Amino acid sequence: MPGGASKTGTTGDRVAAVKKTTILDFARLKDEGGKIVVITAYDVIFARIFDEAGVDAILVGDSLGQVVLGLPNTLGVTMDDMVRHTGAVARGRKRALLIADMPFLSFQAGRDDAIRNAGRLLQAGAEAVKLEGGRNVEATIRAIAACDIPVMGHVGLTPQSIHRMGGYRVQGKAEAQRERLLDDAQAVQEAGAFAVVLEGMPSDLAAEISTRLEIPTIGIGAGPRCDGQVLVMQDLLGLFDEFRPKFVKRFAELSRPVSDAVKAYADEVRGGTFPGKEHSF
Ligand code: KIV
Repeated sequence: MPGGASKTGTTGDRVAAVKKTTILDFARLKDEGGKIVVITAYDVIFARIFDEAGVDAILVGDSLGQVVLGLPNTLGVTMDDMVRHTGAVARGRKRALLIADMPFLSFQAGRDDAIRNAGRLLQAGAEAVKLEGGRNVEATIRAIAACDIPVMGHVGLTPQSIHRMGGYRVQGKAEAQRERLLDDAQAVQEAGAFAVVLEGMPSDLAAEISTRLEIPTIGIGAGPRCDGQVLVMQDLLGLFDEFRPKFVKRFAELSRPVSDAVKAYADEVRGGTFPGKEHSF
């Protein structure tokens, strides 16, 4: 048809119909008091499903290490891993904001390194990067943001600091720690981040940070008074059975139906009933 038109409209119509979420929507949602919905994804299939389900943002988290690569923690995740999976997610999502994690050692060794690695994630399709730390990474956030690369901060329980923290422990319970986390969140905002993840901290501390900051806070294990929430997709869908943290709500139990489907397939192959005539040429 002329001009690329089809029964469902022109390509332009279809693109226009998809209202892209940007970091400006994060700021607007905070101003309006709306909650921001974020979920992790690591591949094209789930990226497409989550995008169509209407989440505001998809995070390619370095939780990839545990939930996809089977590593004991996030420290072994590389830039090449993140670039590969960010590209896959980018090819599946149309509308949601795409944020990619900067893995361990991709930003700690120097600012030039950090800028180059953040840039690689944008070239792979991310629209923002996330990095862990507070006052200690202020200059790094500032340097990346100065290159027009939107940065999301991440304070509180920061999994890349597992050895300093002595395990995955709720942070900010003691008064001195609480003050440090308030200062970390403030530093991330001052450095130019557009949002910050608050992980593993008491609800009242996360609420105080969310009130003090102008940028939106996205909580995980940080109570209901953050400006939004993020969950790891395998936790939310009931696909990760090794442990069940208190802060996770399993909105489905998919391990069982997936296992049942594979058992049914195995039974039919072994019993000679699959493939049938209808599946054969
Ligand atoms: O790596 C990740 O998935 C994350 C979220 C849990 C915030 O950083």
